[in-house]
Amino acid sequence: MNCPAHDHPSIAARLISSLLPHGLICIALAFVLALPSWARAADASDLSKETQACLKCHDKPGSAKLLANGESLSLHISTQAFLDSRHADNDCEDCHSGLDSATHGKVKTDIKSHRDYSMEMRDSCVECHKKKVKAYDDGVHAALVAEGSKKAPLCSDCHNPHTQRSVKLLLPIEQLPCAKCHKDIFKAYSGDVHGLERVAKGKEAPACPDCHKAHEIKAASFGTGIRDACLGCHEDAADKHKDWLPNAARHFDAISCPACHAPTATRRVNLRLFNAGSNTQLVEKSGVPFFVDRTAAADQLNKGLDGSALLSLLKEYNDTNADAKVVLRGRLEVDSGIQAHQIAEKSKALRDCKTCHSAGASAFQSVSLTVAGPDGRPLRHGVQNDVLTSLT
Ligand code: HEC
Ligand code: HEC
Ligand code: HEC
Ligand code: HEC
Ligand code: HEC
Ligand code: HEC
Ligand code: HEC
Ligand code: HEC
Ligand code: HEC
Repeated sequence: MNCPAHDHPSIAARLISSLLPHGLICIALAFVLALPSWARAADASDLSKETQACLKCHDKPGSAKLLANGESLSLHISTQAFLDSRHADNDCEDCHSGLDSATHGKVKTDIKSHRDYSMEMRDSCVECHKKKVKAYDDGVHAALVAEGSKKAPLCSDCHNPHTQRSVKLLLPIEQLPCAKCHKDIFKAYSGDVHGLERVAKGKEAPACPDCHKAHEIKAASFGTGIRDACLGCHEDAADKHKDWLPNAARHFDAISCPACHAPTATRRVNLRLFNAGSNTQLVEKSGVPFFVDRTAAADQLNKGLDGSALLSLLKEYNDTNADAKVVLRGRLEVDSGIQAHQIAEKSKALRDCKTCHSAGASAFQSVSLTVAGPDGRPLRHGVQNDVLTSLT
């Protein structure tokens, strides 16, 4: 077994280091790194005997296994793609340790579905990539998997373990692993300033992980992670708004960036439940549907909560959370996830004060109350829009 991360010299380097006295290793290594283009490309003989044996049966294009649910599981592993991958120094059995050599390939195994097999294999990355596993476990996708989602990604949905190349390679945006599941958002992103800039100029323009992270992804409307990412790249943006927008910091708290920067979007007001003491959004506990139950009970005709229902709900929250001061904080945001990815050039951004600061402004006609669900994604309940005036 070739173990990972910090120290994995190439096979050639290992061979040389076993032949040479210690003092010469560095020079030899320098030579290896500087090998000219006539150097032999890696081929199957660089792989261990065991791995070559697996590939003898498995490097057969088109071979597949029919699963119990009718899906077909490809059994083809390309030797060349494996050699070109970052796992070329690993053996098959580093990840496939459970195979029984006496029966494997002879006795058919029972696999219900591709997802079932992926779930069975999901712990195979832990040993070598502890940090990434921990980051992923902190994110919304892992929370969804824990809740039983069959659609949220596991490591192998974003990384093919047999073909994974360096993540530093700049892939065409269609090959972003996020694109295959978040199709509508990907489509919007591809046509907005960032997607277009990415295609035209590459790396410095953000792709999904630059705003959302790749592993410790949080629900998009939770916390200030995305806004911090925007301002991290656009370092002077906060200052530039001050030139024309009074109390820009207040506006940044009360308006999501896309609400002004996606000019064609429709907008809504989101009243979020906050713990004013710790300055964090309130989270509904798993299995304790307090928010869902109380809002439903207070609004049986489903017409939207009115002002007094809202105030008594707030009081209830404060009575049950003796150590927290629960308050409502309004935020103007776009209506949908798609619209959040329709950022346009700055000349099209919203700056007319009257769009928002006039009686009956359309942005304030749709109002909802939200609490963060157990995985961070918002749970919403409608609110009657005259509440905004009655509350102030
Ligand atoms: C870095 C870990 C790792 C290594 C190394 C590895 N595999 Fe896999 N393999 C996996 C995981 C994880 C899955 C499940 C993939 C999924 O969810 O589709 C898998 C699935 C498979 C499958 C089922 C088809 C598929 O793609 O899902 C075959 C066949 C297979 N591996 C063969 C091999 C062979 C042969 C080797 C050595 C040349 C190898 N694997 C090396 C992790 C690995
Ligand atoms: C003699 C040919 C042969 C060899 C050698 C072989 N396999 Fe397989 N393998 C098969 C066949 C055939 C299947 C499909 C079995 C079935 O239909 O249930 C399979 C299935 C698999 C699967 C799919 C999941 C499963 O359990 O059915 C994986 C993963 C896999 N092999 C990995 C490996 C690895 C890793 C090695 C080397 C340690 C290896 N195989 C060596 C023939 C072989
Ligand atoms: C036995 C150890 C081992 C296991 C198990 C393993 N990896 Fe790796 N992985 C490595 C090594 C070694 C590298 C190459 C060097 C590096 O980037 O640390 C690598 C590289 C990677 C990279 C590319 C990083 C880069 O260089 O850009 C990804 C992505 C990755 N692994 C994902 C996975 C996934 C997903 C699994 C589980 C299916 C897995 N690995 C299981 C050892 C392992
Ligand atoms: C939703 C897609 C997704 C999932 C799920 C995912 N990754 Fe990644 N991973 C990425 C992307 C995208 C990158 C590229 C780095 C970046 O942009 O931050 C990456 C980078 C990596 C790297 C290279 C890190 C580096 O900086 O060199 C490793 C190793 C890795 N992932 C392992 C894993 C493991 C192990 C799991 C499961 C616990 C996993 N990933 C789950 C998308 C994903
Ligand atoms: C295998 C499918 C799959 C892949 C790949 C995937 N996701 Fe997801 N993701 C989901 C599912 C399913 C949900 C839960 C339903 C939803 O909110 O859309 C989700 C939820 C999310 C959420 C939370 C949504 C909210 O309401 O706040 C974010 C953010 C997210 N994904 C970002 C990403 C990013 C970024 C990537 C790529 C690095 C990615 N996803 C890759 C399936 C996937
Ligand atoms: C009240 C509406 C509004 C809000 C909220 C807002 N912006 Fe702007 N922003 C504008 C307008 C209008 C311009 C164009 C100003 C100009 O042309 O000088 C602009 C300009 C910009 C620019 C270009 C700066 C330059 O001149 O180079 C960036 C980048 C930007 N905003 C990012 C953000 C980010 C990030 C956020 C969220 C933290 C945000 N904006 C919130 C309205 C807004
Ligand atoms: C420039 C930064 C940025 C990039 C790039 C980006 N997003 Fe987002 N994303 C956002 C913002 C901002 C929101 C809305 C957050 C909020 O509610 O305040 C969002 C929301 C989301 C949501 C939640 C949607 C919902 O229904 O509430 C998902 C899922 C998501 N993004 C996935 C992706 C995927 C997939 C990509 C790449 C194709 C991507 N994002 C690229 C900034 C970005
Ligand atoms: C990884 C860095 C990065 C992140 C993160 C990022 N941007 Fe950008 N953004 C760019 C680049 C690069 C451009 C294109 C060049 C330019 O105009 O500055 C751009 C362009 C823009 C423009 C058009 C500016 C103009 O001059 O017309 C706006 C508006 C903008 N971004 C807003 C945002 C918002 C809002 C977010 C967060 C939701 C965000 N950006 C996140 C790098 C980033
Ligand atoms: C996209 C909607 C929007 C636009 C455009 C907008 N505002 Fe605001 N403004 C808000 C919201 C929302 C608040 C926060 C109200 C609150 O905190 O109750 C706010 C707050 C304010 C405040 C009070 C800040 C404080 O100190 O509490 C002033 C003053 C203000 N805006 C002036 C302006 C001016 C002048 C313009 C045009 C240059 C403008 N706004 C453009 C939505 C907007």
